Amino acid sequence: MDMERNSVFDCVILPLNKIHNRAGNITIIEGEKSIPFEVKRIYYLYDIPGGENRGGHAHKQLHQLMVAASGSFDVMLDDGNNKKIVTLNRPDYGLLIVPGIWRELMEFSSGAICLVLASEKYNINDYLRDYEQFLNYVI
Ligand code: TYD
Repeated sequence: MDMERNSVFDCVILPLNKIHNRAGNITIIEGEKSIPFEVKRIYYLYDIPGGENRGGHAHKQLHQLMVAASGSFDVMLDDGNNKKIVTLNRPDYGLLIVPGIWRELMEFSSGAICLVLASEKYNINDYLRDYEQFLNYVI
């Protein structure tokens, strides 16, 4: 396996900066500075219907930072041995997700926006979409 064996405990909340003034806030994320990887791709999930879940896959190589740019949602992380659920509900905190972690996103609030910064361009071959295949890959 071409990756170190990562655990859910490597998926940590990173406090981001926040510049505040009376007209609101701004948070700046700089690749390799605020987060430990260069950003090659950004995408965001929005207009998620109530009760819907997203994710349901793992990545072989990809590092990601996930931010609740608006609203809130839960991220269930699973490394094949341990699981943990992280609630994201602040735009100035990000969740680092390392490779080899199964994730499911759930409990989206109305109007939630899940902003994702990714270390690689989209690569369909980097996905593990079947849970049994994921377990065989990481264990
Ligand atoms: P998917 O990764 O399945 O979404 P989620 O895990 O959030 O439920 O992606 C949904 C669709 O979007 C799928 O057809 C692949 C496509 N997609 C791209 O083409 N490029 C991308 O960078 C991403 C993240 C998804």
